[in-house]
Amino acid sequence: MSDRLAVVTGTSSGIGAALARRLLEEDWTVVGISRSKIELDHSGYEHLVLDLGNLHALQTLAEKRLAAMLADHRWARVGLVNNAAMGGTQRGIEDTDPEELAWLLAINTVAPTYLMGVAARVVPPATPLRIVNISSGAAHRGFPGLGDYCASKAALRLAGMSLAEELDSDGRPGGRRDDARVFSYEPGVVDTPMQTRARSASGGESPWAKPFRDFKAQGLLEKPEVVIGPVVEFLESDDGPAFEESRFGA
Ligand SMILES: NC(=O)c1ccc[n+]([C@@H]2O[C@H](COP(=O)([O-])OP(=O)(O)OC[C@H]3O[C@@H](n4cnc5c(N)ncnc54)[C@H](OP(=O)(O)O)[C@@H]3O)[C@@H](O)[C@H]2O)c1
Repeated sequence: MSDRLAVVTGTSSGIGAALARRLLEEDWTVVGISRSKIELDHSGYEHLVLDLGNLHALQTLAEKRLAAMLADHRWARVGLVNNAAMGGTQRGIEDTDPEELAWLLAINTVAPTYLMGVAARVVPPATPLRIVNISSGAAHRGFPGLGDYCASKAALRLAGMSLAEELDSDGRPGGRRDDARVFSYEPGVVDTPMQTRARSASGGESPWAKPFRDFKAQGLLEKPEVVIGPVVEFLESDDGPAFEESRFGA
């Protein structure tokens, strides 16, 4: 029976699906979360169907199911991988629709930040906890037409850094939390449905879609199975700083 639990969001396609398969091969128990189910016939996998933009449903699921799973003393190690995200709308900031922006931020920033908090609060203090936030170059610099996505990823990156500071602080209620680490990981440019959608935004007519078509034309897309290596390595790592970040291939 596996004694390591990983909660991975966005396991129905792309990077999340590849990661779930790989962790199962490495004998982790995996709980996946996304709106659509993945056909993964493995006794170590459980899928929770949820729209992460529905914050009320997320909170209910976290309180009723996830917290109990994460708090279980049988786990020798717990991982949380905040992987699910929406690509940007490819609408310039001048054309911001406030409700659409709030929806994207709920999925890309609020839900993963909340999940980090739940994990840090309920995973037993003696259990190693590894949190991965799948980030992007868009968390570090602005790109035209990607303002919503850039803002969401930059905010998640900083929320992860802040959590690491809190866990490592004597000011934390309950004291510092040893052996908890946060990793902000940029997978590079990856051949997934998110890239396909980005290339074809507005039927391929969006002026902001060109870089994505160029990535494909220049053969720059990596396979999801290749870019997940550092995530698995981090989840299984022992010592290290409270916060670290890296980019695939850098
Ligand atoms: N592909 C790239 O080049 C690239 C580059 C940098 C960073 N990233 C990041 O890598 C991560 C994975 O992206 P990907 O490329 O693998 O994209 P993907 O194939 O589109 O997968 C996205 C996953 O997120 C889930 N998801 C999206 N909206 C959701 C929602 N409202 N509620 C629950 N789950 C939701 C999707 O599941 P459902 O649709 O079934 O809900 C899917 O499983 C993302 O954080 C992305 O920002 C990707």
